[in-house]
Order: sequence, then structure tokens, then C-alpha cells
Amino acid sequence: MASSGQPRTQWLGRWGFMLAATGSAVGLGNIWKFPYITGEYGGGAFVLVYLACILAVGVPVMMTEIAFGRRGRGSPIDAIRRVVNESGRSSAWSLIGWMAMLCGFMILSFYVVVAGWSFSYLWKMLTGGLAGSSVDDMAAVFGANNANPFILGGWSTLVAVLTMVIVGKGVQEGIEKNVSWMMPGLVLMLILLIIFGVFSGGFGEAVSFLFSFNAGSLSSEGMLAALGHAFFTLSLASGAILTYGSYLPKGASIGRTTISVAIADTVVALMAGLAIFPVIFANGMNPGEGPGLIFMSLPLAFQAMPMGTLFGILFFLMLSMAALTSSISMVEATVSWLCDNKGMTRKSASWATGIVLWLISTLAMLSFNLGADWTLAGKNFFDWLDYLTSRWMMPLGGLGTVVLAGFVLKSETFRDELGLAPLPYTLWLTMVRYVSPLGILVIFADALGLYQVSFAVHWPWLLAILLVMVAVGETLSPRLRQALRSR
Ligand code: TRP
Repeated sequence: MASSGQPRTQWLGRWGFMLAATGSAVGLGNIWKFPYITGEYGGGAFVLVYLACILAVGVPVMMTEIAFGRRGRGSPIDAIRRVVNESGRSSAWSLIGWMAMLCGFMILSFYVVVAGWSFSYLWKMLTGGLAGSSVDDMAAVFGANNANPFILGGWSTLVAVLTMVIVGKGVQEGIEKNVSWMMPGLVLMLILLIIFGVFSGGFGEAVSFLFSFNAGSLSSEGMLAALGHAFFTLSLASGAILTYGSYLPKGASIGRTTISVAIADTVVALMAGLAIFPVIFANGMNPGEGPGLIFMSLPLAFQAMPMGTLFGILFFLMLSMAALTSSISMVEATVSWLCDNKGMTRKSASWATGIVLWLISTLAMLSFNLGADWTLAGKNFFDWLDYLTSRWMMPLGGLGTVVLAGFVLKSETFRDELGLAPLPYTLWLTMVRYVSPLGILVIFADALGLYQVSFAVHWPWLLAILLVMVAVGETLSPRLRQALRSR
């Protein structure tokens, strides 16, 4: 329960939530992770599944989360408990909130390491530390940057401190202001890189790599990665969006906001792909290079470009900023929970969170040097944080969220809170009750080896399962028809 009787802080401007949610969504996930996992999982088919996941799972989950936040006015744990209690259901559902909070924290622990790479490349750009003209030179620079735990740890510590300082300042001062100038700047840089890519000789290959869907059978691993990335890139199931939603004023349209954020996020990711892959192909690099992909490829582009140093500086500056506006959203849930429940001030909650964050992120950072062979089942600590959160915790949390909203709560709750006209509301309801859960379950089943999905072959089956689900669900609690009839 909120310890004070004061109304909760709200965003300053009409665009406050939009900006902050976009700032949270657009980050390293779009520019660092999307290209490298697309490269690892083979291109077009992965991109297609990812886009389908954004539409069928990401958008409905995001709307639901924002609605939970605004209705419950609190951190994920408190907000979910309040909304669930309002419908007379068990507080145990707030476990979803606990998992989300933990998940946001785990993500941040490796995210600051990657953001640290971005800051260190900004520094290298400024100081000329990126001289070198071959792919091998760049791989060597990246390797050397990781090899020294004090250097790498210094950068990730810097990111952790900056994050906590901004969060400590509060949502309005700290978060809202920085996003509004940064996002257009980032898009501008990407446009420049794409133009450069068009002339680099690798553009055609890049386009066909990203958008030719002939790849046919995508691995189970790849489908799970695509689903996980849809959650990651929209900052879902980790408390970020839900907590931001708790500061959203009553009148704002959740549906419209969600769609704008999802579109902006997807456009930035695809632009990043179009900026990066031409460089990869023009230089004969391997698209499956892994986490170092952008750090090994983009500096080459900047060196070959007129005024490349300037653009490189601007690019890594924007990337670092984009990383910060995302990282602050990941701890917002924890900090807001500590403030509401433990009577801490924002400042002390931020510092307490920051210390724990620093310890865990240091372990993640060590995965690139001293701890490189502290592995379990072939994954180091950094990999495990990423794997557990993206592949399992976020999709599971998302599944819990939609099932809760679609089946457990009273139907008035979300009809009120979303404020949609009957038709869009019915669409949302169909998604959260049937389409999103089926999507998540099918991909889980595939990943667990229970059922090998090939959409090209199995779509009639999937459609049949969907129809059976609708028939059973609507017999037990006929909400869709009611939704259409109401109002
Ligand atoms: N969406 C951000 C990105 O793509 C990362 C991010 C911010 C995030 N908040 C999150 C990921 C919460 C998971 C959970 O870079």
C-alpha cells in the first residue's frame, strides 16, 4: 500500500508518458541486440516471427500492463494486488509483479555492461582510439576493451551510477526531459548510416538478408529468441512499462499510446538493421558474430565515411543516451516499490538499489574477462541473465498478465480502464484471451521439444486449436459477445 495519502506523481506534459515509454522501449535492444540476434538466427524468417510476436503478443501485453499500472497506481507488486483484490481474487497473483521486478533487475545487471561498451566507444571515438582499418583490427579493439576488468568495470560502474542518479531525481526531472531531444537525434544518425550503407556495396545483400522470408524453417531456439526479443524490446513483463503506466493521467488513451510506442520501436530496430548489415556484408564479416557485432562493424563504417569521426561521436553519444533512458526504466519498479512499502526516500531507495545492482553487474562484467570460464551448461553469467530473462521469465510473466486480465478479473475492470470502443475492445480481448496465450504456449512447446512447429505446414492446426480455445473459453465465460453488445 502506498504509505502516504498523497496522490501519485504524474507525468508533466501530455507527451510525458509517450516520451518515457518510447525512451524505455528504444535502446540497446533495438540497435545492439536486434541486429546481432537477427544475424545469429539467420535473418528474414527470424524478423518475420519477431514482427508477428510484436503484433500478436507485444501490443496486447503492453496495453494490459499500462492499464494495470494506471488502475493500481503502484509498483507492479502493489498495482497487481490492488487490481486483483478489486475483483475479489487472490493476492497470490501479485507473484507476477515480483517476478517482473526481479526480471527488470536481472536485465539491468547485464544491460549496464553493454551500455558501458557504448560509453567506452564514445570515448574511443573522441580520443581516436578506434584507428584501424580492418575487421580484425576492430575485433582486436573490442577484445582488448573487454579483457581488462578494471576498464570494463569502470564503464559499467559509470552507467550504473548515472542510472541511479537520474532515477534518484525522480520521474519528471530525471526521465521526462532527456528523452525528447534524444530520440530524433538517434533516428537522424541512423538515417545517415543507412545512406552510407546504400553506397557501401552491401546494401542489396543486407535488404535480402533482413527481408527475404525464404529461410523456411527457423530453429526452435530462434522462435523463442524472437518471442523473448519482442518482450525485451518493448520493455514488457519487467515492471518498467507497468510502473510508468502508474504515473499516467486518467484521460490518456492507452491503445493509441501503445501503438505509437510499438511502431517507433519497430522502426528504429529495422533502421538499425539497415544501417548495420550493409557494413557487415561489404566488409565480408560474419553476421552471426554475436554480441560484439555493432561494435566491430560500425567503427569501420565511420572510418570510411566523410566526417566519420564526428558522426561516430554523435552516434555513440545517442546510443549511450538511449541506453540510459532504458536502464532507468528497469529500476523504476524496484525504486518505486521501496519508496511505497519501505518508507524510503527516492534518493535512498536509488542508492540501495544501486549497490546491489553494482555487485551483480560486476559479476556480469567479469564474464568477459576473469570469469569467462565460469560457465554452466556452456553459458557464462552474462549469458544466463540474458537467457533466463528473455527466453523464460518475460514470456511467462506476459502469459500470466494476459491470462489474469482476460479470464480472472471482472470484465468491467479493463473495459473501464482501457476506455476503448466496443470493436477495438473486443479485438484486445480476443488477443489477450486467445491469440497471445496460444502464441506464447506454442513457442514454449516448441522450445521444450514437445511439438515442432513449422508455421507453413501447421497453420491449419494452429487455427483449429485457436478456434477450440475460443469455443471453450466463450462457453465458460462468454465475454466476447458481451463486449460487442455493450455500449
Ligand atoms: N527495451 C529496451 C531496449 O530495447 C530495454 C529495456 C528497458 C528493457 N526496460 C526494460 C528490457 C525492461 C526488458 C525489461 O533496449
